[in-house]
Amino acid sequence: MKRRSLIAITDLDRADVARILRTANRFSEVMGRDIKKVPTLRGRTVVNLFLEASTRTSTSFELAAKRLSADVVSIKGSGSSLEKGESLKDTVLTLEAYGPDVFVMRHPHVGACRIAAKHTQAAVVNAGDGKGEHPTQALLDLYTVEREVGPIDGLHVAFVGDVLHSRVARSGIAGFRMMGADVSVVAPPTLVPRDLEDALGASVSADIRDIADADVVYVLRMQMERMGRGGHVPSLREYAARFGVSHERLRPGQRVMHAGPMNRGVEITSALADDPQALIERQAANGLVVRMAVLYDLLAGPEDAPAAREALASVTAA
Ligand code: CP
Repeated sequence: MKRRSLIAITDLDRADVARILRTANRFSEVMGRDIKKVPTLRGRTVVNLFLEASTRTSTSFELAAKRLSADVVSIKGSGSSLEKGESLKDTVLTLEAYGPDVFVMRHPHVGACRIAAKHTQAAVVNAGDGKGEHPTQALLDLYTVEREVGPIDGLHVAFVGDVLHSRVARSGIAGFRMMGADVSVVAPPTLVPRDLEDALGASVSADIRDIADADVVYVLRMQMERMGRGGHVPSLREYAARFGVSHERLRPGQRVMHAGPMNRGVEITSALADDPQALIERQAANGLVVRMAVLYDLLAGPEDAPAAREALASVTAA
């Protein structure tokens, strides 16, 4: 049987997101225990296929699968037969022979996860595809805001910076809107996709003072590696001067997020990145329980449901 995949945040509806966040909450109780492991996914196999650099997502998915007692295989582009020219399709078909239940996949190109999903019966979780989507980042961001700030419905979240190249923004804007937040974007016009207002429903401004109204200021990484030589901004120094987020540009009580990795001194000052007002470390930490919840949710299909529910009940009861 072909399993459900999570490739874009819009593969989920509001009820799905709420359910995953509730499950993450239950797993966070487990993470507070001495023994941080549950048998929930014993006998399942998770393949982490990371063909683009990652620290947070790859580590937290690997740990999430291990904490759920799954068998985990982690493959990077470097050292795999992709280096010898094997295609993505053949790599997936080869790994399919070992009977995986989930592929967690990061790839530099938009759409690669949908291609992989055509060649496997396993679930495919998009762990970031180029400038496409990063749905589990959006889920962990929603979870972090709900825990640290409060209900998302009615909050104002402002995304600042390089929206054009940001899968974090693409999934995040859609995710926050789905859960009832007002979303705005503050960025240079050269770093805003043309379809943003129509496609994602976020209002756009090029004036950094417009972050003043936001409850949460979400700072985006300047993705120099995706900008080529075209020069989307005159210089990083000028970008930092006009759009860099600092204490001086915030009002008391505003919370600050960044998915990482950060360019300190460019999109965010180092002092702000280290300030407890920023939720950056909480985001990284929450990635673990949210990714446990995603793996659990995808494997709790009709044939798994009784066993999976029993396992989750034992998490709560223990
Ligand atoms: N936020 C994020 O995706 O970080 P990594 O690239 O380190 O996984």
